[in-house]
Amino acid sequence: MAEKTVEQYYAPPPKLGKWEGFRTFLWNSETHQFLGRTGASWAKILFFYLLFYAALTGYFFAMLAVFYQTIDMRVPKWQLSRSLIGDNPGLGFRPMPPDENVESTLIWYHDSNENYKYWTEYLDKFLEAYRQPAPGEKRVPCNYTTGPEEGRVCDVPIQSFGNCSTESHYQYHRSAPCVFLKLNKIFNWNPAFYNDSDPLPDNMPDDLQNHIMSLKQQNSKEVNTVWVSCEGENPADVENIGPIQYFPGRGFPGYFFPFQNNKGYLSPLVAVWFEHPATGVLINIECKAWAKNIMHDRLERRGSVHFEMMID
Ligand SMILES: *[C@@H]1O[C@H](CO)[C@@H](O)[C@H](O)[C@H]1NC(C)=O
Ligand SMILES: *[C@@H]1O[C@H](CO)[C@@H](O)[C@H](O)[C@H]1NC(C)=O
Ligand SMILES: *[C@@H]1O[C@H](CO)[C@@H](O)[C@H](O)[C@H]1NC(C)=O
Repeated sequence: MAEKTVEQYYAPPPKLGKWEGFRTFLWNSETHQFLGRTGASWAKILFFYLLFYAALTGYFFAMLAVFYQTIDMRVPKWQLSRSLIGDNPGLGFRPMPPDENVESTLIWYHDSNENYKYWTEYLDKFLEAYRQPAPGEKRVPCNYTTGPEEGRVCDVPIQSFGNCSTESHYQYHRSAPCVFLKLNKIFNWNPAFYNDSDPLPDNMPDDLQNHIMSLKQQNSKEVNTVWVSCEGENPADVENIGPIQYFPGRGFPGYFFPFQNNKGYLSPLVAVWFEHPATGVLINIECKAWAKNIMHDRLERRGSVHFEMMID
């Protein structure tokens, strides 16, 4: 057999001990390789990764910038019936029971001693935003003839809640609690007011119907209001609930709508004062908001809110 000179592409490394092999791998003084690569090779690979990640980061931020171009921080993309929250606003009440029982809607206290403190402190905190405008917020007084100018928001005067004021402990100490109602904000939602000759809905409480009728007779602009009514749910509750007063009025004035997420917007509030509720019994209360385009659905929590009250 003729001897053949084979071109050698690969020379097996010289047999070394384990430790010796490792040390050579760390630093090979013959080839000047560190961890298996020469300095130039390391420089190249580091340079490659530097460029690679720089490009990746740039691409990420470019995509993010494109994405931000398509959204507006103030205006939601999906509005009204196309949005998840829909176009039928819900009603909320404050103060709410402690967090540990989220399902609870029971306002329960003992009017002796300082037992009602939780509820009044809750309301103090809730109304904090209404007290002082944050720097840069522009609140203007509004009325039914003059809404806010572009970019301004209507003031909700804290003094307008009458007997439901901080100073009078929202009447909790007198077994006559105030509960604040608030319509959930829906961007660009406009109420359809009961301001024409159409008959009022049959299920609207009589006192509210009379109130609206007399405003219509006076040709008052106040008809442009989202009205509010609170009632006992069952016959026994109707009996126990006693007289009710609403501050500053019986509803949310129309000039607060539509909500356009202007800086510092305040949701209008209605303070409902239960003047003489029966004590020692649980009272089921349902409050409803009234406009032609508000449907009432208790299960879906649309247009109405339910809570219970018990004063020991
Ligand atoms: C309504 O508000 C505007 C601006 O604040 C004011 O000029 C006007 O007199 C007010 N109208 C009524 C009837 O209060
Ligand atoms: C506030 O409460 C007092 C005492 O019950 C009552 O005399 C007064 O009329 C109430 N104020 C309003 C605005 O209802
Ligand atoms: C009645 O309400 C509608 C909105 O529901 C409003 O556009 C209209 O201006 C109101 N009419 C009067 C006379 O205020």
